[in-house]
Amino acid sequence: MALLKLAHMGNPLLREPAAAVDDPTAPWVRRLVRDMIETMQDANGTGLAAPQVHQPWRIVVFFVSSERLSGLTGDVAQDLTVLVNPRIELLGDERVFGWEGCLSVPGMRGVVPRHLHIRYRATGLEGEPIEREVVGFHARVVQHECDHLDGLLYPQRMVDLRHLFFLEELERHPVDLATLLKETRPR
Ligand code: NI
Repeated sequence: MALLKLAHMGNPLLREPAAAVDDPTAPWVRRLVRDMIETMQDANGTGLAAPQVHQPWRIVVFFVSSERLSGLTGDVAQDLTVLVNPRIELLGDERVFGWEGCLSVPGMRGVVPRHLHIRYRATGLEGEPIEREVVGFHARVVQHECDHLDGLLYPQRMVDLRHLFFLEELERHPVDLATLLKETRPR
């Protein structure tokens, strides 16, 4: 077991598309995933993608806490899950705004639009197929993590960079999402 070094925004690896894994059951994948989980838990993250620990592979680990669900049907809690070679299918056109943070953008939070409703497919560590249809926060976490595999970080999905905050300031000046979304955007 080992804690892995986290790459931060600006590291070129975080802009690169990651490579598909030929054999999701290979021992090196299991070792990497074990260390990714330990690293994510140590940093209090809800998800981690392999490029964030300098490993350019299409592997993601995440969980969805019941405390953070939106209350929408289909926004379901999820135990720790490993996705190898995940693919996302966007269902419908509806997008919703929500708060995100990222272990590669430490100390910050931003308001990010994401598709409300998705289906994702991947392979698990035993080679088993995974397929789930989800909405809300669960869908947000998966979209965020899979973006890492395509070289994207959440600030690059934001539509209003005024809504990118240092967590320290946000704690000093709390503001709710609805208030922010009502702000008129300057021309
Ligand atoms: Ni992230």
